[in-house]
Formats: sequence, structure tokens, C-alpha cells
Amino acid sequence: MCGIIGYIGTEEASPILCQGLKNLEYRGYDSVGMATVSGGLEIRKGVGKIDDLRCRLNFEEIPGHIGIGHTRWATHGTVSFENAHPHADCTKKIAIIHNGIIENSDRLREALLKRGHEFAGDTDSEVIAHLIEDRLNGFPGQRGAGDGEPGTGSFDNGFFETACLDAFRLLRGSYAILAIKEGEDKIVGIRKDSPLVLGLADHGTFFASDVSPFLEWTKKVVYLQNYDFVVADGKGVKFYNLLQGEVSRPVDTVEWSMEEASRGKFEHFMLKEISEQADTIQRALQQDGDVIERIVDEVKKGFGVFFVGCGSSYHACLTGTYLLSKVAGVHVNAVLASEFENYEHFLTEDTLVFAVSQSGETADVLDAVKAARRKKSKIIGITNVMGSSLSREGDELMMMNAGPEICVLSTKTYTSQAMLMALMAYALCDKHEECVQKAKDLYMDVYNLTSKSMRVRLKDLAKELVHKEHIYMIGRGLQYTTALEAALKIKEVSYIHTEAFAGGELKHGPLALVEKGTPVFVFVSRDNEDRIVANAQEVKARGGYVIGVSDWNHRVFDRWIKVPECGDLNPIIQAIPMQILAYELAVQRGLDPDKPRNLAKSVTVL
Ligand code: AGP
Ligand code: GLU
Repeated sequence: MCGIIGYIGTEEASPILCQGLKNLEYRGYDSVGMATVSGGLEIRKGVGKIDDLRCRLNFEEIPGHIGIGHTRWATHGTVSFENAHPHADCTKKIAIIHNGIIENSDRLREALLKRGHEFAGDTDSEVIAHLIEDRLNGFPGQRGAGDGEPGTGSFDNGFFETACLDAFRLLRGSYAILAIKEGEDKIVGIRKDSPLVLGLADHGTFFASDVSPFLEWTKKVVYLQNYDFVVADGKGVKFYNLLQGEVSRPVDTVEWSMEEASRGKFEHFMLKEISEQADTIQRALQQDGDVIERIVDEVKKGFGVFFVGCGSSYHACLTGTYLLSKVAGVHVNAVLASEFENYEHFLTEDTLVFAVSQSGETADVLDAVKAARRKKSKIIGITNVMGSSLSREGDELMMMNAGPEICVLSTKTYTSQAMLMALMAYALCDKHEECVQKAKDLYMDVYNLTSKSMRVRLKDLAKELVHKEHIYMIGRGLQYTTALEAALKIKEVSYIHTEAFAGGELKHGPLALVEKGTPVFVFVSRDNEDRIVANAQEVKARGGYVIGVSDWNHRVFDRWIKVPECGDLNPIIQAIPMQILAYELAVQRGLDPDKPRNLAKSVTVL
């Protein structure tokens, strides 16, 4: 899930790389490193975040117009100096950075060790530098040790890129790799199942995991495809695909602006993104009518419909199942993408698979898409990132239109997904327009919920909860999925153990956890008021501290978070105060809400 960046051009590379790494930090922040070529190869790296190391390692002073940079989310090997990228070969002339997992790295490492290579660390990535060195030394490699398919064709160019190409052919797994070498005025890159895009500016070429690091410089972008192998030098860029040979790739224009991708007056991206929701919810509705019509048709005639996602996206899927059932009487299965293989045998040509992922790069989701493709099922992608793998995989595509979401936590993209689920549910019974109207009516409510006064009230509540060890949440129906999402928000950003249960399940076990003062949030809707209030009473009877989230204050509540009753759109409205509360809890615990420990925005490993 690391972030990678490369630059070759007329500007000094290191300040560009530093800035770019800052933008990519949401992808990983265990360690950071850079390498440039300016005559010789220079590598600087260390454990920590870019802001900590920038001055300590004088990153911005490394000379050179060619450079690569990496911010790591460790998969193989501890967080250490040795395991930080870039990695060098034995001669210290080649440097590589990598995002992904090299599945056959143990085998490759063993062979390289036998040939006398010395490794500095334990990452799977380091083998890549040594493989390139090996190829430069004329070793034939072990064709077939890698994925198998891309074993033919050659790149009729310089020796370094041929060595890279041959080395990359040996890799199995997922990778976005950049390589540079002393004495070579070029950057060589490749991608397979990990994202890599190119930015084309007047003064040079950028490589990056996403567009955010180069938005300031250019909006011209090339989205690379699997097995695309790219060489950028002072003269331009050459594309080669390991399966297709020489290829050309179209230049697209990014719609996101630099302002959207920056924090502005806000202390954190999380707060900024929460506060954008009055608009982003409306933008989610800007869908192509024909696409919606086709999707509705497919759902109606589909034999088995699956909504597949991870984390918050999965919660949106679950919300979708309730909405489609309640509003349109349509049965849909929500499945965690990582569990989808257990359902594969149900897939046929008539099955419909909705793959839901804000990043469009989540490996588990892409894996589910591959399974659906194998079985010739129809795939509908729902994502926020144009150019992402998912945006190119589906038979139909719905964009969330939420603009860049930089904080590791999904906030605005979650509510956009919930909005899209509602839109589909209403469209399925010819009430598309009614849904649009309901969403319009929501504008001021969302605006008020994200206002300063709401934040002040939730700050107070956070003060009460900040030292709690456990928080529980209950809801029924649509409010149950909101409880799940709220619990995920709080646990991932504040590290307070928070769990959600269906209200009716309380007495089947979780009630044992409730003791005097245990905070229990209760999400209430007019629909199921009596039953959930009865559950709240059960909590209260055991001494629990009941916090109600509803549009009226009930005497069972010890605390009340007032939200308007919005029926089918409750999942959107009730999630927002919970996002703010999660944010406040993190801040009061001295944590960085944008970068929770051990997590990354784009989970590109299985
Ligand atoms: C959300 O706050 C989480 N950080 C995480 O659960 C996320 O929703 C999940 O990893 C799925 O990401 P995606 O939507 O990009 O596929
Ligand atoms: N496998 C590499 C490492 O552990 C890259 C990890 C990643 O991209 O997530 O350093």
C-alpha cells in the first residue's frame, strides 16, 4: 500500500518528490526514502514520516533531475532503516521502489544468494534491485518463475531497460515499481495489480501511485494498465506491454483540482472531508440516466445480485441490501470482498456483481471482480477514483463524484456510497426523481450537522468518552448498518474498542459486556422506535450509559445527539455526527486523525 513517486525533467527532483510524498503519505507512513541520479546514485531514507525526516535527512538538498521516492506500509520485514525503500543492488548503482507484494520473493532471494548477492534487509522488494543487477551481469534469470504469461517479447532499447524488463518478468504477485541507475538518464517503471499513473508536464514526466502528487504541475495523465512497462527519459515516454508488445496509451485530463486535494483552512483532511458532505451527497446523484436505466434492467433480470466491498464500503453494501429490500422489494447479497471466494460457485452469466470501493484499488475487491469475470458475470463498478483499476474493470461504472479523499478514513465517500444505494433502490421502482428530491431536502440538514455548533456539542461528548476502554452501539435495520460504520470510524481513528450489534442480538450475548457506566449508542428511527428503545431499556437496566441518536429525546437516553428523521436516508444523516465524534476522540487523545496507525487508504494487498 506504499506510495511511490518518480520525476524526470528539467526541475530539481528532490523538492518535487518531498511534496509528492507528503500527498501520498495517506498510503503508508512507516518509513520514507528517496534516491536521485546526478552523476552518481544517492539514496537517503529513514523510519518516520516525511515531515520528521525532511530536515533531518536534508531530503530537499539531494541534487539531481531524476529521482524516485517512497513512503512505506510494511508487508514484508519490520519497520526499519534497512527495510525502507529505495533498495539498492550490491554495487549500489541501481535503486528501486516498489508497491505491492512479490509472492515468489523467497525463491528468487535464495537463487540470488547462491549467486553471491548480499541483502541489506528483509523485504520482498529488495530482490528486484538484485535481479536487475543480475541481468546486467548477463545472468539468464529463471524464465517461468514469474507469472508465466508475460514471458515473450523484448524491448528494443538500452541495456538497462532490457535488464529491468527481464527482471520484472520473473516476478509473481502485485507490483508498481520504479527503477533508476547511476549513469542512466531515465526512469523505468512497470505495474501489475498495483496502481501507477503518469503525469505529463511541460518540464518533465511524473510517475506516481495516484494523481495527487502532480496536480500542482499538470492535469495531463496517463493511466497505465497491467503489465505496462514504461521508460521515461529527457525526450519523452515509451510504452511497452509485456503481453501486447509496443502499445500507445491515451492522455486523459484529471478533473480534480489542487485545491480539492489540499487541506485549506482545516486542521485535518478528515474534518475538511466531513464538512464537504452537503455538496458531495448531491454530487453522488449526478449519474448518467442511461447507465442507471441499464443497471436497473440488469438487476431486474439478474439471477443473483451481489454487493461486494471492504470496511466502510462493505457497510454501504449492507445498507444497500436493506434499502433495496425495503424500498424496492429486491433481494441482494452483501458480501465482504475478502470472503467472496466462498460464494463464487453461485456466479453465472446471469449474476450481477456490484464492486464497491472508493479507491478502486482494494485488492480484495479486485480479486472478487476477477472471479466474477472468470464466471462471465456482469460487473458494476462503484468508485470515486477515475482511472483506478476498478473504474476500468466493470461493464458499467458509477462514479461517486466526491472529489479526492485524502484522510485514511472514509467519510464523504461512505455517505456518497449510501446515497448511490438509495438512488438504485428508488430507481428500481421508478422513483428516481423522488430520491433526488429527498436528497435535495437533505442539503440543509447535512450542512447543519457539519456546522461548528454541532462540533462543539460533540467535542463535549468526546470529553466524556475519551478515557473509556469500550464503547458499544446498537441499531436495527438501516440503523444497524449505521452502528457498524460508526463503530469502525471510532475504533480506527481513536483506537477505543468500539463494537456494534443489531439491537435484537443484544440479549444473545453482548449484554454481558454492559456494566455500570458502559457507553452504548442507540441509533433510532421512527420505523422501529419501540423495539430499539426497548433494547436501550435493557442496557439502562444493567447500568449502561445510553446515548441516543435520533430526532427526539427519549427519557431512556442519558445523552442525546439530535439528528433529523430522514427515513431511508437515515444512514447518511446519522453517520455524520459519528464521524465528527470519532474525529474529536482522536484529537483529544493526541492522535493524527488523517493517519491512524497500521492503516492505509488504499489496501492493495490481499
Ligand atoms: C474506512 O474508514 C476504512 N479506512 C476502510 O475500512 C476502507 O473502507 C476499506 O479499506 C475499503 O476501501 P475502499 O473503499 O477504497 O475499497
Ligand atoms: N512489500 C513491500 C514492503 O513491505 C511493499 C509494501 C506495499 O506496497 O504495501 O516494503
